[in-house]
Amino acid sequence: MKPHRRIFVTTALPYANGSFHIGHIMEYIQADIWVRSMRMAGHEVHFIGADDAHGAPIMLKAEAEGITPEALVARIAAERPRYLRGFHIAFDNWHSTHSPENTELSQGVYRRLKAAGLIDSKPVEQFFDPAKGMFLADRYIKGTCPSCGAADQYGDACEQCSSVYAPTDLKNPYSTLTGATPVLRTSDHFFFRLSDPRCLAFLRQWIDSGRLQPQVANKAREWLDGEQGLGDWDISRDAPYFGIEIPDAPGKYFYVWLDAPVGYFASLLQYCRRTGLAFEDFTDPARAKAVGTEMVHFIGKDIIYFHTLFWPAMLEFSGYRVPDAINVHGFITVSGEKMSKSRGTGISPLRYLDVGMNPEWLRYYIAAKLNANVEDVDFNPDDFVARVNADLVGKYVNIASRAAPFLTRLFGGRLATPEAIAAAGLGLAVDPVALAAQVEADFESREFGRAIRTVMAHADRVNQYVDQHKPWEIARSIERDPALAADPVARQAALDRLHAVCSECVAAFHLITLLLKPVLPALASAAEGFLQVSELTWADAARRPQAIGEYSHLMTRVEAKHIDALFDLPAAAPAEPAAHTQKKKPAMNDKTPTAAAASATAPAIAAASEAATISIDDFTKVELRVARIVRAEAVEGADKLLRLTLDIGAEAPRNVFAGIKSAYDPARLEGRLTVMVANLAPRKMKFGLSEGMVLAASAEPGSGGPAGIFLLAPDSGATPGMRIK
Ligand code: MSP
Ligand code: ZN
Repeated sequence: MKPHRRIFVTTALPYANGSFHIGHIMEYIQADIWVRSMRMAGHEVHFIGADDAHGAPIMLKAEAEGITPEALVARIAAERPRYLRGFHIAFDNWHSTHSPENTELSQGVYRRLKAAGLIDSKPVEQFFDPAKGMFLADRYIKGTCPSCGAADQYGDACEQCSSVYAPTDLKNPYSTLTGATPVLRTSDHFFFRLSDPRCLAFLRQWIDSGRLQPQVANKAREWLDGEQGLGDWDISRDAPYFGIEIPDAPGKYFYVWLDAPVGYFASLLQYCRRTGLAFEDFTDPARAKAVGTEMVHFIGKDIIYFHTLFWPAMLEFSGYRVPDAINVHGFITVSGEKMSKSRGTGISPLRYLDVGMNPEWLRYYIAAKLNANVEDVDFNPDDFVARVNADLVGKYVNIASRAAPFLTRLFGGRLATPEAIAAAGLGLAVDPVALAAQVEADFESREFGRAIRTVMAHADRVNQYVDQHKPWEIARSIERDPALAADPVARQAALDRLHAVCSECVAAFHLITLLLKPVLPALASAAEGFLQVSELTWADAARRPQAIGEYSHLMTRVEAKHIDALFDLPAAAPAEPAAHTQKKKPAMNDKTPTAAAASATAPAIAAASEAATISIDDFTKVELRVARIVRAEAVEGADKLLRLTLDIGAEAPRNVFAGIKSAYDPARLEGRLTVMVANLAPRKMKFGLSEGMVLAASAEPGSGGPAGIFLLAPDSGATPGMRIK
């Protein structure tokens, strides 16, 4: 028997300014599979989540909608259960960082850090929007690049020439919130003194403690001991801010990333109060050690910084226990395209459910592609269909459907004993306990893909066994062969053979059900009914079912129409302007402390007006830019489309599908300049994501004008990225 473990597991707290996207769902599926597997081993696991409710973007988005931030957060929170239930993600508690528990805990952490001499206050000079009356984070400031003179560049780096600078270096800076010219103002900020030798010594030891994946530990070490070193961390923001007030500092709030991870504890505290568990057993270092509890976080690769440096240091120096593991996963891409939450792209989880797709298909597909490294996972529609149908339906469920009818019809649903099967020499040569131990170990170490491969290799063997022993032929001769009917001894021998083969198949199905149960909980539950067994755990690998109930189909196939329904609809309007996503942080292309919160919100682009005239404001909503066609290629399966790769001066080129194949030879387009709509809501297509539109002229059908499509081109001298107005 393995020792009984008590584990507190979390996933990153999603920002509450938007619905779940497929990236969130992927993270929850990973954690949920792990949690279910640990529970099947008999461990006590508490799976905790919450909304990350604070920060300027949420405040500004609520303001733009004319509602309070609380109302916005409540609306988003109300949506959560549908997604979680829909994908069988079984959190034990879901709370919010905007809660009394979190206020109490975050202020407590701060007080203890202060008492430890780790909080400093110093004046910071920063841009201030006089019209809005608020300090501006870098992402709310734009202006002219000091190096190349390109207009409308963000406050930290130029998309045209890639130079990096401070917002105060921008020429003609303006606030993206109001358009006002920002002024420099000084205000006192609080800092967590991470540069203190105590912090540095602790972090070095913590990073090397073996709790991090090697590549994550390397990254953290680089940040800690790299050229710039770890600076002190600015943890305060001035009002107006949606957050938690800093004790004894009127008008000052905690920066959202201070109270966000404390939200893990806030949700745990609420849960403990509800269930009668002792919170201190999970959070107090001495108690945790005495009773042996573990704390495990699942997060994505963009928030490593906060979880490997700031959070452990906060915990350590405020008298809490530190995490035992930070399990970092890569990002999910769709057909190789990066999805961006700010563009609202990728696969819509709700649409997935609404078009009638089985959530366990996705759970299986993601599991099959995950490993313990920080690697991206691609959702490829064709691969998805092939894998789900071949593995789940073709290999796994098929085992039951091939054997069950004979058992029901000829043996009253009773299974032959293992002794009888062995006596007939018909046992499958497999050690179920050893196989289960191997798969269980892979789940525990998050090598889900390897676990799935092992299980499917076994399913292949079982199917070969069926093909070899052909139960349908034995049954046919038993039921139809007159010679056999006339020879009771031979008939009984055939019956015994059939009974043994089908029983061995059902036992194998029982084992595979158990092996896949962390991934396919709903299917496992239906199969448990069919197998007439109680809830399967890893220990049940040593047991066999005795009898089966009536077999009814356990899983259907994915069909092309599902994928069409999932992809061919236009994407939801992006929550934020596309241009935002072009901004790349030079450091890690990740959320670094300054770029941590989600981007600003802005009104969605209005639908084309019905009115005969539009205002100049309407026109300027359309972001037209000069684009260079870097690549043009035909799209397999699409006779009108070309896939264009467009350089618009930003780091990431745009992918656009254009219906111009009839008029242009792709090779002749490469290198040409044209005009694109750069802020069009991206559209998911079967072939990939289309991130904008190129402009072309064509005659109205029936107008008598010349046939054809004529791509626009700027005069010479124009360069990629230039705005057209
Ligand atoms: N609110 C912060 C986390 C605070 S934790 C104390 C945040 N929220 S988030 O909504 O932007 O992201 C939540 C989680 O989703 C993160 O772990 C993030 O890495 C993950 N993902 C976001 N996009 C993703 C993919 N495309 N693929 C997989 N996971 C992704 O960050
Ligand atoms: Zn520049």
